Amino acid sequence: MNEDRYLTFALTKGRLANQTLELFEEMGISCEEMKDKSTRKLIFVNEDWKLKFFLAKGPDVPTYVEYGAADIGVVGWDEVLEENRNVYEVLDLGFGKCRMCVCGPESARELLLHHERIRVASKYPNIAKDYFYNKKHQTVDIIKLNGSVELGPLVGLSEVIVDIVETGSTLKENGLEVLEEVCALSARMIVNPVSMQMEQARIQELVLGLRKKLSSGRQA
Ligand code: PRP
Repeated sequence: MNEDRYLTFALTKGRLANQTLELFEEMGISCEEMKDKSTRKLIFVNEDWKLKFFLAKGPDVPTYVEYGAADIGVVGWDEVLEENRNVYEVLDLGFGKCRMCVCGPESARELLLHHERIRVASKYPNIAKDYFYNKKHQTVDIIKLNGSVELGPLVGLSEVIVDIVETGSTLKENGLEVLEEVCALSARMIVNPVSMQMEQARIQELVLGLRKKLSSGRQA
């Protein structure tokens, strides 16, 4: 263990990063420069705790962690599954809860039931492939999209989609339904395997502190 070395965090930009930083603040770890909305800085430092933080797009967080550019990452379980990187998952942070689902019009239920060869649009082709091929043993055609996936069945690109459902309002407003649930999702803390060995004590202390905070929050 090297006390002078910074522990570097890659946080998923947006709500997950904000909730993570709130949690750290409750533990007395704050990062004032990150609160400045006008800043163009990319890396933020907490000198007292020897921590560095940077913000990244969700799918890139496991990449930064696998290559050791970040020791620790905070990212949705969806991205961990999709990217399938060599990282350790050490903590379920309990926020960012949602579900990965197969969705479509009610009429597509029949196609799923009969294991028809259907088209599946998704931002998560690996999760979709694993679900249909390995769990359901159904041959399908996967079509990769980058957003607004609900459009797939609406414009005739696909019969169903595999996508995240949080409140369900996007589906409802577009006449689509959850047809099957793939898995539950939430924010996870992931760690680079080498960092896990080299910085074991610091990482364990941090994870323990976070776990304590999270469980006391749940009881309150
Ligand atoms: C996500 C997801 C759904 C929506 C679900 O999209 O892909 O479209 O949120 O949320 P809801 O159940 O609360 O309606 P996001 O907003 O990230 O944008 P995108 O469609 O461009 O990926």
